[in-house]
Amino acid sequence: MNEIKLINTHSHANMLKETNIDTAMQNAKNANIVTIIPSSTTEDIFEVDKFIQKYENTYGYVGVFPEEAKTFSDKTLTDMETLIKDNPKIIGIGEIGLDYYWDKSFKELQKEVFIKQIEFANQMNLPLNIHSREAHLDTLEILKKYNKNSTAILHCFSGSLDFAKECIKEGIYIALGGVVTFKNAVKAKEVAANIPIEYLLLETDDPYLTPVPFRGKENQPLYVTYVAQEIANLRNVSVEEIASQTTKNARKIFSSIL
Ligand code: NI
Repeated sequence: MNEIKLINTHSHANMLKETNIDTAMQNAKNANIVTIIPSSTTEDIFEVDKFIQKYENTYGYVGVFPEEAKTFSDKTLTDMETLIKDNPKIIGIGEIGLDYYWDKSFKELQKEVFIKQIEFANQMNLPLNIHSREAHLDTLEILKKYNKNSTAILHCFSGSLDFAKECIKEGIYIALGGVVTFKNAVKAKEVAANIPIEYLLLETDDPYLTPVPFRGKENQPLYVTYVAQEIANLRNVSVEEIASQTTKNARKIFSSIL
């Protein structure tokens, strides 16, 4: 295999609608991009596994998204454990976390399901890919209290630079996507320009959050290159430096990536 150029730590390429999935995955592979696919529901943990077995240069996370907390049960953990067993392509637990943006009515349940999945990740010795929307303080508090030994990544980080620094102090990684390319995304650009590069990761979160210059069209894993380029511009370094350092960071977390 050719040397990996970039590691896209969060992509829902299995959900692409306007783009042919085979083509999108071939595009990423041709560019030597590794793509990690999170699951969101108690059902699509199986779908994600099928997807990553089918496509080269892909890996997956299993986990249940906060919006789906009501469907989570002990059976979900058993299913996740079965999928992880003898499966080198499942390399983390995600996307899990807290989302107070859409619906605050089941905050407590979201927290409970988040904690259960952190404890499960600790037991499996796997990293965490975390979704946190309008729930920054609770997310950090729960991680401090319950996460014993799993490396945590805050995906599509939307907090301030100060908050990013507070997270990094706890050993948490910051993953940035297409938002950094948006003209009005002052906060995200500030984070991208100033956090220690050793804690930076790249992602797309496709099919959502398409970076400039493709805003308005469907996102895809390959476009992580535009995220890397924008961060390089913001930090005044070469895109190669961003690529090699973020790949090194991701490899440190996901040692099983080939
Ligand atoms: Ni996502």
